[in-house]
Amino acid sequence: METSSGYHVAVVGATGAVGQQMLQTLQERSFPIASLKLLASARSAGKKIMFNGSEYTLEEARPESFEGVQLALFSAGGSISKKLAPEAVKRGAIVVDNTSAYRMDGRTPLVVPEVNEEDLRNHNGIIANPNCSTIQMVVALEPIRKKYGLKKVIVSTYQAVSGAGASAINELKDQSRAILDNKDYTPEVLPVAGDEKHYPIAFNAIPQIDKFQENGYTFEEMKMINETKKIMHMEKLEVSATCVRLPVETGHSESIYIEIDQDNVNVEELKNLLKDSPGIVLEDDPANQVYPMPAHCVGKRDVFVGRIRQDLDRPYGFHLWVVSDNLLKGAAWNSVQIVESLVKLGMLK
Ligand code: A2P
Repeated sequence: METSSGYHVAVVGATGAVGQQMLQTLQERSFPIASLKLLASARSAGKKIMFNGSEYTLEEARPESFEGVQLALFSAGGSISKKLAPEAVKRGAIVVDNTSAYRMDGRTPLVVPEVNEEDLRNHNGIIANPNCSTIQMVVALEPIRKKYGLKKVIVSTYQAVSGAGASAINELKDQSRAILDNKDYTPEVLPVAGDEKHYPIAFNAIPQIDKFQENGYTFEEMKMINETKKIMHMEKLEVSATCVRLPVETGHSESIYIEIDQDNVNVEELKNLLKDSPGIVLEDDPANQVYPMPAHCVGKRDVFVGRIRQDLDRPYGFHLWVVSDNLLKGAAWNSVQIVESLVKLGMLK
């Protein structure tokens, strides 16, 4: 509902997998909106989208689109953020950017409200929303770091295709149908739309998310490593990651091994700590086969944690299984949470 007392908001990438969830989340949270601009590429200009019972016309995102906008949520890819986020800031908007364009920029806070909300106080117009896999991991690790200290993290991810956008969701569905119907298909999107080779995702697992870097890690893996250190303010934390794409539509899963600073902590203590920590739902009851799964977390805002076990060789080592809706806590909900934090801190005028 547009209200005269609300904020002037723009959503860039409003037609995309994350953009759609941003709109849904703003609506569900009854965020006060005085005016709303829905921006996308020239291809979408003129199309209509419903929001809160009213019809809105999509516009092509241009520098002038941000005149009068107080808050701009970006999720249209890094190059669009690089080009247009400064234009929005120049016109007085605060930008919450869901791409990797500004995440490692020294002047840009990279925020997961459960972990480092206070970092919002030092922004220069742009606030970065971390990578989806990083967000759910740091929500689970921050209470452990605070109470017991954290030395090392080794994570393997099992990531859903929606993290690669609407075209990757379509590719998974079309390929699955083609394979079941014995029809030919040509992979075009995954693992990375702009890379040389494409592989089938249906009935497969692809150990490449984003492009390879010179050190042999993918960009997604390096995002997890670097962003975790920045968000947790732990430059010295040992972090390593292997990121894998699975034929799951939505919901990223992570197998995480951690080493803490103490060797007298048991699994029950960890479970009790996580059960009462912000943003976390503990689902850990092996006797009753209770553990988190992507199919159960779709549409929910929490981070689900289970399968907590002590390492068999190291008393200071623990294994966790962490699952969350990558489009919500991993993207849209974390962005809207950032916005709600800005309002709470009196920083959105
Ligand atoms: P469009 O639908 O007009 O292409 P996803 O991550 O699901 O692939 O979505 C990407 C989002 O980014 C879409 O909303 C898409 O709009 C938008 N987008 C892509 N290219 C541009 C562009 N050049 N300018 C503005 N928005 C863009």
